[in-house]
Amino acid sequence: MAQIAELRKTVGESSWFVRDRFGMFIHWGLYSMAARHEWVMHHEKIPPQEYEKKYFSRFDPDLYNPQAWADAACRAGMKYFVITTKHHEGFCLWDSKLTTYKATRTPAKRDLLRPMVEAFRKRNMRVGLYHSLIDWHHDQYVIDPHFGPLRDHPDREKLNQKRNQAKYAAYLHGQVRELLSNYGKIDVLWFDFSYPKPNGSGKGHQDWQSEKLYKLVRKLQPGVLLNDRLDLPNAWDIKTPEQVVPRQGVVVDGRPVVWEACHTFSGSWGYHRDEQSWKSVPQLVELLIDTVSKDGNLLLNVGPTSRGSFDERTMDRLNGIGQWMDVHAKSIYGCGAAPAEFPVPQDCRLTWNAAKKRMYVHVLTWPFRHLHLDGFKDRVEYAHLLNDGSEICFHKDGHRGLNFKGLATPETLTLELPVQRPNVTVPVIELFMK
Ligand code: GLC
Repeated sequence: MAQIAELRKTVGESSWFVRDRFGMFIHWGLYSMAARHEWVMHHEKIPPQEYEKKYFSRFDPDLYNPQAWADAACRAGMKYFVITTKHHEGFCLWDSKLTTYKATRTPAKRDLLRPMVEAFRKRNMRVGLYHSLIDWHHDQYVIDPHFGPLRDHPDREKLNQKRNQAKYAAYLHGQVRELLSNYGKIDVLWFDFSYPKPNGSGKGHQDWQSEKLYKLVRKLQPGVLLNDRLDLPNAWDIKTPEQVVPRQGVVVDGRPVVWEACHTFSGSWGYHRDEQSWKSVPQLVELLIDTVSKDGNLLLNVGPTSRGSFDERTMDRLNGIGQWMDVHAKSIYGCGAAPAEFPVPQDCRLTWNAAKKRMYVHVLTWPFRHLHLDGFKDRVEYAHLLNDGSEICFHKDGHRGLNFKGLATPETLTLELPVQRPNVTVPVIELFMK
């Protein structure tokens, strides 16, 4: 298929990634206790010492059961996961030798990352690590006027005199070395994020020493898939549009690239108790379909509670997606955008499995009796509904037997649909192509 052949090559291993399509993002840290956004430290300008005193000393995930997390991800049909080893707040889930600001020093008293990695691996899921470049807790991290609890501090310049960003970069590199050395094969590395400004007041590749960091990553884990937030023009494998649905597949310098859209259930990434803007199961299933129909991956985020569990809203969404995936996963795994010669039928999304020569028509709005597929005439051998494998008959004469001629174009294939819409979140018709 033309689109795949032209894909920008990745340095890391991406063949599994474009096949698996669906992963779980997990944002878990001290902010899960505040339960009002993972940026709470920034939003409420909570000084690092205060934040530490309040949350760090009380972080006690007594319900944490990583097998249950892996089961829930698996149930939803997810094939990989990406966990926040450290978010902007600076707190580390693993037993880093380079800081005391880590899970082992909280009432949790243990490395929380290792059992998670093991549980997901046991479920045959690939392992991804998110790591924040930004750190609002580290005492060498230079305070800038944009982000962080101390951004508007009257003595910011004075505070910065005691800080040395190069020392922070050494810490950052050291921690990445730990993560890429001590947890086996890492499949995805997800740095977050850079914000260079023309006047130098932001942070970018110089602040992280990204070139050096990139070399370290490639040395320690040559096959790891790297995201695009190090502020280096070419040193990335995947593009990561965030909380948006790209109109088409992502293209860079005229070439399609491997991409992954990340989305939340309700807006914030960390556990948010009061947010009411939860997406419904149908919305999430459509998001997955839409993404794959444009050759992308969906990384769907869960914010576990501070006690270490997935709340009932999360479980409801994951189970709902899983119910749809139980019978429709064929239209997701191994699939991507349909070749351009097949126009997308009205109110539908197409996905295409090139190896199997199967086309999947996702019918978002169920039409009355006929679905017209322009450009499909003489291309289809057989068709059925995925949910029950029941045959869908088709013909080439538009509204056959009715007094309606001339509604279909000569290249149109018309599917005869049951009047009753199948009782699934999104019905899918599988076309066996010639
Ligand atoms: C961001 C935010 C953040 C979240 C991330 C996920 O850039 O800073 O809180 O972790 O995006 O993509």
